[in-house]
Amino acid sequence: MDLKELAAAEAVKYVEDGMVVGLGSGSTASIAIRLIGDKVKGEGLEILGVPTSTASDLLGRAVGIKVVDLDDHPTVDLTIDGADEVDPKLNLIKGLGGALVREKIVAAASSVVIIVADDSKLVDYLGQKAPLPVEVVRFSHKTTTRRLSALGCRPVLRMVDNAPFTTDNGNYILDCRFARIDGPAAMESTINNIPGVVDNGLFVGRANKAMIASKNGVRIME
Ligand code: 5RP
Repeated sequence: MDLKELAAAEAVKYVEDGMVVGLGSGSTASIAIRLIGDKVKGEGLEILGVPTSTASDLLGRAVGIKVVDLDDHPTVDLTIDGADEVDPKLNLIKGLGGALVREKIVAAASSVVIIVADDSKLVDYLGQKAPLPVEVVRFSHKTTTRRLSALGCRPVLRMVDNAPFTTDNGNYILDCRFARIDGPAAMESTINNIPGVVDNGLFVGRANKAMIASKNGVRIME
């Protein structure tokens, strides 16, 4: 079993009959969605899935999960999602997959959030390895970029095939390279106070557990 699969399999053990489950985004969360689908088919579980992206919506349906709207099921029992960085306090950087806005909305509605990742995502401090993705509206995004630079980072407009990457919400992503992010809670709100910013990939105090897979097995951080 590869490491992502190990982490996902450990998290899926927490999925129970009758739950409303948040379906995360990214490669590790996608493995979890497939495993939930196996549980639905194999054990006949009645699960409602709330997607965090168009991709997780499509995958959830494809593997036989009944996909529903968060507005119709505003309390999510458990969300399983990936991360780009996990610090020792379980604070996260998310959004390299571009789904951070919906991921944060679903995490905020969830009683329990379990992060699934391999040990390459563990860091001593946020910003150690990954840039911080910030979703911004297209209008005047260069002005928003300048305001973000003033916080001491280097923002780069995310590109795909020579064109700006566009999120499921029709916005752009600025990947902001910080030397390190001390005080992630304050930084999360400072960034979100910049006009034009929709949200950023700092997830502070939102994860309850993380299943971190390494060649030695799965370590559960809480
Ligand atoms: C998407 C995310 C993903 O959860 C994150 O990028 C991790 O993805 P992967 O499991 O493919 O490494 O935040 O917006």
